[in-house]
Amino acid sequence: EKGGYEHFMLKEIFEQPNSIADSMRGRVDRKNNKLTLGGIHEYADHLAEAKRIIIIACGTSWHSGLVAEYLFEEFCRIPVEVEYASEFRYRNPVINEGDVVIAISQSGETADTLAAIELAKSKGAIILGVVNVVGSSISRVSHEGAYLHTGPEIGVASTKAFTGQLSVLTMIVLSTAARKKTITDSKLKDLLSGLENIPEKIKKVLRKNDEIEKISEKFKDAKNFLYLGRGYNFPVALEGALKLKEISYIHAEGYPAAEMKHGPIALIDEEMPVVVIATRDSSYDKIVSNIQEVKARKGVVIAIVTEGDVLIPNMADYVIEVPQCDEALMPLISVIPLQLLSYHIAIMRGCNVDQPRNLAKSVTVE
Ligand code: F6R
Repeated sequence: EKGGYEHFMLKEIFEQPNSIADSMRGRVDRKNNKLTLGGIHEYADHLAEAKRIIIIACGTSWHSGLVAEYLFEEFCRIPVEVEYASEFRYRNPVINEGDVVIAISQSGETADTLAAIELAKSKGAIILGVVNVVGSSISRVSHEGAYLHTGPEIGVASTKAFTGQLSVLTMIVLSTAARKKTITDSKLKDLLSGLENIPEKIKKVLRKNDEIEKISEKFKDAKNFLYLGRGYNFPVALEGALKLKEISYIHAEGYPAAEMKHGPIALIDEEMPVVVIATRDSSYDKIVSNIQEVKARKGVVIAIVTEGDVLIPNMADYVIEVPQCDEALMPLISVIPLQLLSYHIAIMRGCNVDQPRNLAKSVTVE
């Protein structure tokens, strides 16, 4: 059942080239430069005309919601709020008739997310579900939605569901942008072919598994970890830190790299590994400065860089290369080495990666 892998988590990490292809099957039509999301049909215009979008989720799903916020704002010019379901539901949120809520949940059973949806629905919001488990509670209470089609996720730490969510949310954003005409045909074409190339690029990253395992060995006894990213890679930093915490029990924090000097920089010394997601994108120069700041304080830098980068390998202690792609799609790729890093560190610490202590696959209590 684990398909020759030692753990479900590893199997699911390695399944991602296929699971992402599955999430796009029948939806991306590159020839006609079109996207078809059968599940969002009646409310597609409503979404395109929304004055604002509220995204509701928990945990890893909340991280994919953050990426979606950046995508919606960039390509659709729609303001987005990304909310922790548990906070949203208890704070008398402002919800107007016709507001669009996108609820993201792997299991479709998360109690807080479900309750937040019901609250929003009772005030007249339109609920679109981005869910993996077919027929789950959240899929049933949503007005419409899109399934991930990534197959069952067994490991408690979410991996292929996260990339499945990114893939589906990207498709929702791009089809909305096409409807609104806030994206040019040529940009849409670039991104659709970019999406189609993601599985091959992930395969390339997966081939670095042994290299990542060797790097992991150096950090198995670390007490703390910091993860930094900017732009589209900021939510990836949060996700990398969450993965490490939940399966290896090492304290880790994710931060937008520029926030470092507003506090966390005080933590940096030779004992502090700092994972910096520093792929070539519009904030590259800024992230290079952030790496210099960490190195000046003797932090140990593990950098995720774009293939062929010559600058950062001279500054960082360890580098992991990933293939180039449009920055809007980069989280689909840059998260992969972080998943592997936390997996190997957890295994080396003797942790039960598929069933970490105190965690449940679906959180049906609030
Ligand atoms: C992280 C993880 C949790 C879930 C969260 C939401 O690896 O598994 O943080 O992401 O409990 O669960 P879903 O997506 O099922 O609503």
